[in-house]
Amino acid sequence: MPGLLIQETPFKTLKVKELHPTFGAEIEGVDFDNVSDETLQEILAAMAKYGVCVFRNTSLNDDSHVEFSKRLGELDNIRRYLQGGRGLRYKHYELFDAGNLDEDNNIVDPESHRAHANRGNGLFHVDSSFNPRRAGLSLLRAVVIPPKETGGNTDFADSRAAWDDLPEDLKKELLEGDYAGSHSMAHSRKLASPEYFKDVEPDKAPQSKHRIVQRHEPSGRMNLYIGAHLHHIEGEGMTPERSAELVEKLNKHATQDKYRITVSWDQPGDMVIWDNRCVMHRAGPWTGGGKYKRDLRRTTVHDDGPTAWGLNSKEMEMPGSAAWTKPTVGA
Ligand code: OGA
Ligand code: MN
Repeated sequence: MPGLLIQETPFKTLKVKELHPTFGAEIEGVDFDNVSDETLQEILAAMAKYGVCVFRNTSLNDDSHVEFSKRLGELDNIRRYLQGGRGLRYKHYELFDAGNLDEDNNIVDPESHRAHANRGNGLFHVDSSFNPRRAGLSLLRAVVIPPKETGGNTDFADSRAAWDDLPEDLKKELLEGDYAGSHSMAHSRKLASPEYFKDVEPDKAPQSKHRIVQRHEPSGRMNLYIGAHLHHIEGEGMTPERSAELVEKLNKHATQDKYRITVSWDQPGDMVIWDNRCVMHRAGPWTGGGKYKRDLRRTTVHDDGPTAWGLNSKEMEMPGSAAWTKPTVGA
């Protein structure tokens, strides 16, 4: 378990403030205008240990955000979510739009299709678990932040600690069953806005399969890979009833208060990196939706580990939004 050794080495260039007993850290000492290879390795070591790292007031802009992210691996892009004419309000397709602004930088109507689709971000999830090739790191940067008193924070949940704490008999069932989780974007969208998406049929939408319990390679620790995109669980002897029961039970367990941190956005330039292979996240409660601008942009690094493709064929296409609903949605 090489990750563990690295973690025990004190950081030379980073200053680390832990945010929770089991995960999350705020990191100082990174000059994002000039990140040395040594610092990059230390950031990766901190990511392996903490799962979520917060960097305040970085100097990053769209260009340097994308450039820095490329040093962490191959980046996903949002072209396939833009079918149907929706354009991009900035230059880089590598930047996923987590904000509430339209192409002309106006606030989207909270009753619009896109706003309904974005409600899914308010449920604890793992980015891109519905893709055949899952995501490793996500790097989310604030461009415009809303007034603090309206909320709009981002919450994280520690799915490694949640695994550690499961009762032994349940761990045994999950390990022996070697269960596969089937994930779908349609499912989380419908969960978050059931009335608006009442005609969406997640059963018929594309699904991708990844094991429910997996080793998190960078740390060597086990992880529960679940979240709001998880539609059902498959395995020998699995019934639809047990699947539904497990999906609910595991998600509920892993998102208890004791496994959570909330990260506030304090100023433009703040960036949070999280590892989708060991934490879940959600957009926290926000009362400013139709009224204030909240502009956050995210790069997503494809997982390059041995289980990146889960149980899916590498020939499988990454599903775009049009795969399950007609009008375009934000990613
Ligand atoms: C994301 C996401 C949460 C937020 O960008 O992947 O889920 O707080 N964002 O906007
Ligand atoms: Mn997300």
